[in-house]
Amino acid sequence: MELARPSRKTNGKGVQVEDTQICVVMVGLPARGKSLIAQKAQRYLRWLSIDARVFNVGNYRRKDAAQPSADFFDVNNLEGERMRRAAAEAAVTDMLKWFKDGGIIAILDATNSTKKRRRWIKERCDKEGVETLFVESKCDDEELIMSNILEVKTTSPDYVGQDPEEAAQDFRNRIRNYEKVYETIDEEESDLTYLKIMNVGKRVIINAIQDYLQSRVVYYLMNLHIKQRSIWLSRHGESMWNVYGKIGGDAKLSERGEAYARKLPDLVKESFDGNDHPLTVWTSTLQRTIATAQHLPQEWNQLQWKALDELDSGVCDNMTYAEIKEEYPEDFEARDQDKYNYRYRGGESYRDVVIRLEPIIMELERSENILIVTHQAILRCIYAYFMNEDQEKSPWLNVPLHTLIKLTPRAYGTDRQVYKAAIPAVSTWRGKGSVAKHEDPLEDTTSLDK
Ligand SMILES: *[C@@H]1O[C@H](CO)[C@@H](O)[C@H](O)[C@H]1NC(C)=O
Ligand SMILES: *[C@@H]1O[C@H](CO)[C@@H](O)[C@H](O)[C@H]1NC(C)=O
Repeated sequence: MELARPSRKTNGKGVQVEDTQICVVMVGLPARGKSLIAQKAQRYLRWLSIDARVFNVGNYRRKDAAQPSADFFDVNNLEGERMRRAAAEAAVTDMLKWFKDGGIIAILDATNSTKKRRRWIKERCDKEGVETLFVESKCDDEELIMSNILEVKTTSPDYVGQDPEEAAQDFRNRIRNYEKVYETIDEEESDLTYLKIMNVGKRVIINAIQDYLQSRVVYYLMNLHIKQRSIWLSRHGESMWNVYGKIGGDAKLSERGEAYARKLPDLVKESFDGNDHPLTVWTSTLQRTIATAQHLPQEWNQLQWKALDELDSGVCDNMTYAEIKEEYPEDFEARDQDKYNYRYRGGESYRDVVIRLEPIIMELERSENILIVTHQAILRCIYAYFMNEDQEKSPWLNVPLHTLIKLTPRAYGTDRQVYKAAIPAVSTWRGKGSVAKHEDPLEDTTSLDK
């Protein structure tokens, strides 16, 4: 399921570019989750190795007006109007330059949403052969808007260090100013390619999607919701293969692994705040993950996913790293050189795993509170998606055994909390070039513990 299409053209500078380039234009009033959607789309596309970038007009505007009050956004404030226009101009100019250099999908995150402005953006893109996909987030559910306002006022750089009550009031006034000029996408614009999302996915309208890449983006965005939720990640408890230093296989838990399984319900409870539960539990189909989840509350639904099975190490399944180095020295070397792309003989690479995890990510986006009990390589890929880690680094992440990670997506990034069960386990983290599995993981700069 490669997203990138095989036919490629080169741009003026000889850089290879996909023949489809898309500008995704966010449309909607403030506090409708636009920035969140933009950031997520960028993260998702990059995770799939598609060059994507958000151009946030607010960030351009902040260079000139760091913490403007609501008056700044009044239509009658000429100076404010001029600065907002200049910011939009600068963002679009940078974006078009980025496309010339081979960018594939830009996401233009801006608030000003008039028909005239949409025409202007479309004309600029048309001229450069860039497709436009307008994504409108409409919301009249007061509760959702309020929770978004709460989120924005506590996390937006516009309100750093300000009294939360005043910030919320100011933000509401800002929205009122935008409402005066806001025009929703309607029938008059039926020539535009657009996705209209009402009340965060309750209803969606899709118009004039033109090609495969656009439909992939639309499908992802349709599945998003912005309700508060968390995702818990845990490896299985220590397995007999972990103890012997072997990879792959379908081994049972060690005694310490069993102890972790008994401890997991408490560890999860310790991580709760507010309305976190109930959780749905996902495991792989391998017995070590199922055994690790067995003591979790009966009333929590459990689902087994084949797609969550450990990276397939092909002919190296059930071997130790020392054995692999002995038997397949070139492979051992090649894997260290480019761990993300290296594919085990008869097995998988990290890149393959990301492709098979795509439906998992899609399902995760549709879901609310989920606890995933799975394997090291799989967790590295899922973690990289949520934490925006590069592919160079993600295969080297240290995801220790007997540790629960709680991820909470927020408007400006993902919060992470780590809970350690006080149950010893071997370290299965291996540094580049080494066959041992007992290096001090704290030496690893990409360690989760930091
Ligand atoms: C939005 O843009 C239009 C012109 O493109 C401008 O007249 C209007 O004042 C802008 N409104 C806001 C709230 O930025
Ligand atoms: C590795 O061991 C598992 C049992 O733990 C077995 O099912 C699998 O076939 C073995 N793999 C290879 C390549 O022999």
